Amino acid sequence: MELKVSLKNITLKTPFLLASGTCGFGLIFEKFFDVKETATVITKGLSLNPNPGNPPPRLYETYAGLLNSIGLENPGADTFLKDIAPKLEKKKIPYIINIYGKDIDEFIKLVEKLNKTQALAYEVNVSCPNVKKGGLAFGQDLDTLKTLLKEIKKVSKKELIVKLSPNVSDIKPFVKVCLDENIFNITVANTYLGMAVDLKNFKPHFKRIYAGYSGPAIKPLTLRFVYEASKVSEKANIIASGGITTFKDVLEYFLVGAKAVQLGSILFRDSKAPAKFKESLKAYIKSLNLNTFEELLEFFKEKRKAWEV
Ligand SMILES: Cc1cc2nc3c(=O)[nH]c(=O)nc-3n(C[C@H](O)[C@H](O)[C@H](O)COP(=O)(O)O)c2cc1C
Repeated sequence: MELKVSLKNITLKTPFLLASGTCGFGLIFEKFFDVKETATVITKGLSLNPNPGNPPPRLYETYAGLLNSIGLENPGADTFLKDIAPKLEKKKIPYIINIYGKDIDEFIKLVEKLNKTQALAYEVNVSCPNVKKGGLAFGQDLDTLKTLLKEIKKVSKKELIVKLSPNVSDIKPFVKVCLDENIFNITVANTYLGMAVDLKNFKPHFKRIYAGYSGPAIKPLTLRFVYEASKVSEKANIIASGGITTFKDVLEYFLVGAKAVQLGSILFRDSKAPAKFKESLKAYIKSLNLNTFEELLEFFKEKRKAWEV
């Protein structure tokens, strides 16, 4: 059954992506399922220079999700080009590079370096809550975001996906900025700002106090943002990222308007989830007497038309 889906200038073999930071560089999942047939890998956030990330502790599990303060630890662009990209390319694993810089200049230098890879696109991370510079600062201010996207567009030889922050009261103006800059692929959304405290020692759990919250708890919140973002324009291709835990969650995101979904924290609980969801999706499409994934998206779109009063 045909599960391919077309975003703006990018075709994905299936609507499943492995979310940045939750799958390393994707290679480790090869022992659990056939990655290249199942999902598109989004790399751990990559910066120009190696980044050691934040000091421990970096994780805190709640009964409904996961707080993380990894701080974008990564080996840097040169190591990625030398040791990681060739492996992904040799195995024909489709991949997208998640990029971040502490300022515009760093983003530009990084993109110029990575242009020679076979990555399908760049996912521009303007929404990481765990770093001192860059990150959220780009994703919470409309003018700053606009300037950054304009500059990256000038040097990028690949399609851009912007990964927006959910730490805003209204996501629609941020979607509009992307569309104004002719960027039509948008990930909604990154983690939510949260915190945890250590009652034994009377202090915050994380050294940076705040951390990014992901997992089941955030699904209804991100579902709302995905719905609102997809309503901004027919031209927006929304990639949902937030709390997918069951196959029902996957379908809910498609029903509210997402064209593809990222699997994140679920990968820590069930490394085979992408392969299981792929099979469930085929069975679901068949159960509706439809033939392809794009027909399912059309079917859901028709249903949505009746929602607005
Ligand atoms: C441990 C961890 C590391 C992450 N690292 C990144 C990152 O490097 N870049 C990024 O854009 N998002 C990062 N994220 C956010 C995820 O890609 C995803 O958007 C978020 O976790 C919400 O999806 P989920 O609830 O399915 O995990 C990270 C999330 C977790 C849990």
